[in-house]
Amino acid sequence: MNVVLGVGGGIAAYKAAELSRLLQERGYAVQVVMTEAAQQFIQPLTFAALTGRKVVTGLFTEDILSSSIEHIQVARDNQALIVAPATAGLVGKFANGIADDFLTSMYLAFTGKVIMAPAMNTNMWNHAATQHNVELLRARGCGIVGPGEGVLACGTTGAGRLMEPVQIADFVDQFLMERNDLSGETVLVTAGPTQEALDPVRYITNRSSGKMGYSIAEAALARGAKVILVSGPVSLTPPAGAQTIKVKSALEMRKAVLNHLAESTIIVKSAAVADYHVANIPEQKVKKTAARFILELDPTPDILAEVGRNKGDRLLVGFAAETQNMVAEARRKMEAKNCDMLVGNVVNQSGTGFESDENEVTLVMRTGANVALARAPKRVIADQIFDHLLKLRLSLHAVK
Ligand code: PMT
Repeated sequence: MNVVLGVGGGIAAYKAAELSRLLQERGYAVQVVMTEAAQQFIQPLTFAALTGRKVVTGLFTEDILSSSIEHIQVARDNQALIVAPATAGLVGKFANGIADDFLTSMYLAFTGKVIMAPAMNTNMWNHAATQHNVELLRARGCGIVGPGEGVLACGTTGAGRLMEPVQIADFVDQFLMERNDLSGETVLVTAGPTQEALDPVRYITNRSSGKMGYSIAEAALARGAKVILVSGPVSLTPPAGAQTIKVKSALEMRKAVLNHLAESTIIVKSAAVADYHVANIPEQKVKKTAARFILELDPTPDILAEVGRNKGDRLLVGFAAETQNMVAEARRKMEAKNCDMLVGNVVNQSGTGFESDENEVTLVMRTGANVALARAPKRVIADQIFDHLLKLRLSLHAVK
């Protein structure tokens, strides 16, 4: 497959050299395009030597006639565009259609798949404008890999590190794999937290960001499924093409799931549903007094267990967020809730579980097998879940 590697101007630009080598090792023909800023960090000659091809360094060269249409030609000749490092500026320009150099002009003319690996200062990454731009790109179908967390070149510690070249290459492999193996399936995915009202102004919730569930929805769409996404309150933009139902409470989530159960063939319950709620929510705000306040909570209905009792031939995947004995707990939940697979994740270690871009999980299968998946971007984990689920379906049919 022909791919463009767009190199943005950041301190991590040197890692793009290793990425260009890895991509070629995996069979991609790589055309490098460098922004002007990228050339301040690394010489085009490095990429020319690694790829054996002329590196595109600007919109205009001496050969003005051919160069002015070169971005159209490069857009036509390639099936994927990978941008690493994707600076805040590039993310903003791609999101808003600003075409002021070769790479950004080429992006607008490009109809293939786009992957961006952002790298920038933590505050720049967390800024509402960047987050909005990233969500716009994600909703347009762009694959976003990272950023990772760690010590950054600016001396701060936090999110903003370019993912390692091998992680970006793995993501590219998963994202570009031409698969239609979920075509004909209807995948019902639950994502995010639930919010349980205590009174008209207060609620209890948890730390789920929805990233895991939205990645599952994206992966299912990319593999040809019809996707129904039942989402708790999150700040993510739903993937284009998913039928999204927004809910707040566990009761609303239950209703949405049961309403769409009949048409679903695969159900993935990655939402972090509240286990307890206030059954009779006061109509008025509870007044503060000097006295100790005791909150009485009732259990919420267990949606996964209820679906498990009525699942028929459907494939049912649950998640287990654990802080200890993860595999044993996941297996217990899988059996108790009649799932085919339970995805166990540890949620008290840094960089995985709640809110993070990566996860590290063990798949606990109905067949008795456990499969540990190495830490990877949630979008890669999502594909691996489907890979194993489809294999599991085959082995379950084989024993029937
Ligand atoms: O959203 P992110 O920030 O990306 O984080 C992802 C995640 C950590 C939330 C996700 O990977 C995860 O672990 N989701 C399940 C969290 C959870 O609720 O785990 P649990 O062990 O409490 O529940 C087990 C299963 O029962 C889950 O599939 C849950 O959806 C389901 N459940 C739980 C309670 C309830 N009342 N109804 C349910 O259906």
